[in-house]
Amino acid sequence: MSSETPVLDEVSAVRARGLSKSYELGELASLKRTLRSITRLGRAQPPVERFHALRDVSFDIARGEAFTILGHNGSGKTTMMSILAAITPPSDGWLDVRGRVVPVLSVGSSFHPDLTGEENAVLFGTILGLDGDEIAEAMPGIAEFAEMDADHMETPVKRFSEGMKARLTFATALRFPADVYIFDEVLTFADDHFKATCVDEMRRLVREGRTVIFVSHELDLVRDICTRGLWLDRGEVRLLGEIEEVAGEYAAARARHERAIAT
Ligand SMILES: Nc1ncnc2c1ncn2[C@@H]1O[C@H](COP(=O)(O)OP(=O)(O)OP(=O)(O)O)[C@@H](O)[C@H]1O
Ligand SMILES: [Mg+2]
Repeated sequence: MSSETPVLDEVSAVRARGLSKSYELGELASLKRTLRSITRLGRAQPPVERFHALRDVSFDIARGEAFTILGHNGSGKTTMMSILAAITPPSDGWLDVRGRVVPVLSVGSSFHPDLTGEENAVLFGTILGLDGDEIAEAMPGIAEFAEMDADHMETPVKRFSEGMKARLTFATALRFPADVYIFDEVLTFADDHFKATCVDEMRRLVREGRTVIFVSHELDLVRDICTRGLWLDRGEVRLLGEIEEVAGEYAAARARHERAIAT
């Protein structure tokens, strides 16, 4: 291990150093290259353009902390959350996340439509690495949190309304035991009552010493839940620190941007 490689200490849940992510632009570029190479026809290939979604991002998150990532559309928040959840690897940099991670990056997209609510909950728990006892123990709490009776839990998810899918998504995520919980823009469609319930649950997780990473364009909600944050601007760190400072500066920049568009 090099001296530059940080090691997770007792209080850290996440340590990220110099994380970058770049994509090759143009989905069809590789297909076009392949077709040309088959016949050896065509003009010289244009150089491949790379787009940097994240550039040299470093931050720490302590255990038991509620942390946010702020930024305009396309600033790299979901990319960073996907790296934290080990869904996509960074192109460069170093990351250590301590313990089990529950990622909630979209509502219902991980559900299998033909499986029932209960079967989907078992599937999600299994993917997270929980054993049968842990899943069985969590199941009554999942149905209760989702406000679903036994009939609903035994119904295929393809017959669920969007609201029911959202409830089951949160219920499975919040009721399975983990160390780091990741929420990306998933409370947008929740009604006020359910939103308040989820916020209470996130606070409970933090009180229990678990780590919550919460991303939303609703700044009031972010301020309500999080104590520290990172502002990403076109994939680069603009500010890192206490939530009041980061959210305040970000809100001011957003207001300036909106005024500039209006004039
Ligand atoms: N698979 C991909 N291939 C190419 N570019 C991508 C890919 N995924 C994301 N990007 C680009 O990376 C940039 C960051 O996207 P990302 O989804 O992380 O932004 P975001 O901050 O979550 O935005 P939003 O607020 O709209 O959710 C965008 O310009 C996006 O187009
Ligand atoms: Mg996003």
